Amino acid sequence: MTCQIIALMGSPVPDGNTAKLLEKAIKGAEDAGCSVVKVDVTALKFSSCMEYFYCEQNEGCMINDEFSPFIKRFKTADGLIVAAPVMTMGIPGALKSFIDRFQVYFMAKYMRHQPLITKEQKKWRKTLLLSIGGMNIPNDFDGVKLTMEAFCDIIDCPMYAQVLQNDMDNIKDIETRPDITDAAYKKSFEMCTQIIADKDKYEIKA
Ligand SMILES: Cc1cc2nc3c(=O)[nH]c(=O)nc-3n(C[C@H](O)[C@H](O)[C@H](O)COP(=O)(O)O)c2cc1C
Repeated sequence: MTCQIIALMGSPVPDGNTAKLLEKAIKGAEDAGCSVVKVDVTALKFSSCMEYFYCEQNEGCMINDEFSPFIKRFKTADGLIVAAPVMTMGIPGALKSFIDRFQVYFMAKYMRHQPLITKEQKKWRKTLLLSIGGMNIPNDFDGVKLTMEAFCDIIDCPMYAQVLQNDMDNIKDIETRPDITDAAYKKSFEMCTQIIADKDKYEIKA
């Protein structure tokens, strides 16, 4: 039984607080028995969606760039971890552009009714969201959550859990909040343990 997780890093800061949380979650996934591929989204060179609408009729995207391989890679992934700081009340721009390119999945699922993910896969695929925000205000994560709920639906990788921490301008170092770093590890470990169990149960064996 193999379990492959894609971990999307949405912060441009390689050793920042988002990065620290993501490392904890990756460790949790690996300890549960999954292999994890980390993707630094801000390091990729790719276009935002240009609304060519090629994907309305076809199972691909007209734009050929560093995003292109992810159309296929997301078809075989068993789970997803997304780590992102709040930027201007939402998902940071590079990650949002990456997410928008999954219009290919939206069109397949909702326009052509030929989803790229099987109904069996949907029973085991799961997503963990990690997000931090600088400000101590209500609704800080509303934008992030709305986009992520839509993304999880579009790629048929339902939301399993969210680990969220605002007020980072005061907290400064996430490692002073072991409750949050422990939650990132624990939720990831639990999610991946569940993915492995569900995959074992629902996967159609050849
Ligand atoms: C361009 C930009 C926009 C931001 N907008 C928000 C915001 O709307 N709400 C908030 O709580 N924090 C906001 N922040 C603060 C970050 O979420 C916060 O500093 C976070 O800890 C950064 O994590 P990182 O260093 O791991 O990337 C913003 C930061 C930047 C750079």
